[in-house]
Amino acid sequence: MSTLNVTVAGVEQVTPLVKHFTLVRDDGSLFPAFSGGSHIVVAMNINGRIHRNPYSLMGSPEETGAYHISVRRQEKSRGGSVHMHDRVRVGSRLQITYPVNLFALEKRAKKHVLIAGGIGITPFMSQIEDLNRTGGDYELHYAFRSPEHGAFRADLQARCGNRARFYVESEGAMLNLQELLGKQPLGTHTYVCGPHAMVVAMIETARELGWPEGHIHSEQFSAPPSGDAFRLKLSKSDIEIVVPSELSMLEAIEAAGVDAPYLCRGGACGRCELEVLNADGPIVHNDHYLTDAEKAAGKKIMPCVSRAKCNLLEVNL
Ligand code: FES
Repeated sequence: MSTLNVTVAGVEQVTPLVKHFTLVRDDGSLFPAFSGGSHIVVAMNINGRIHRNPYSLMGSPEETGAYHISVRRQEKSRGGSVHMHDRVRVGSRLQITYPVNLFALEKRAKKHVLIAGGIGITPFMSQIEDLNRTGGDYELHYAFRSPEHGAFRADLQARCGNRARFYVESEGAMLNLQELLGKQPLGTHTYVCGPHAMVVAMIETARELGWPEGHIHSEQFSAPPSGDAFRLKLSKSDIEIVVPSELSMLEAIEAAGVDAPYLCRGGACGRCELEVLNADGPIVHNDHYLTDAEKAAGKKIMPCVSRAKCNLLEVNL
């Protein structure tokens, strides 16, 4: 995948757990334009190993002098967010991919209902820019744990006015999805980004209420879980490698110098799908892309987030 070299031009602590990074191009030129909901993948070298994490672009898609991302510190993850928080500072240089949009606003929608939980607010920041610029009808519903965890609340209040509603869990404010989705006019599209339980609840509620499948949009990037090491045979490349516990299958394949496709690196888009040729143990599916039947069949794997409890897994790559 082609990449851009960038320098960190600003770092701002937004909440106790969230930092906002401003990135500019090393050569001073403008970034490619993007649309609201796009993400980039940031490559970082952690103890000699390359980790790549996806982050939503938050700034205005019209302003291409800088890209903006926010990172929530995840102590229990494999170290990418901790690296961004503890090691990356103004002047640090990073490599990023070109933007990809897997969470685009539907242009034909009569209205947009945006539902965010926690750090899941980030893709909506650029979508709101698009909607304000084009005069789109929308509502933002943003839930978070406690007042200090409401990243960008004041900014959103200023930009969205009475289109924004905030739900602070510690103050007992709960988002009632049934009520919210039940009262929307025909032609509305709804979008959710946040914790797994919230994404599932929104999708299930919309389905129960009879929303057309094409009007329900979600984005959820899983961090690749660590797990037991296993041997991986790449049949076309004719090599065998070890996937160590702290790397994803995809990262191990890349570290071996083999090109593998990806877009989201979070188990959502399906781009990295590989055919399983042989497995002497179960596959641990961690993606949101394959159906339950496909997962049970064990013929496909998403190497960006999934692993195997095998001695040897063979895939068609
Ligand atoms: S890269 Fe999107 S599912 Fe793996």
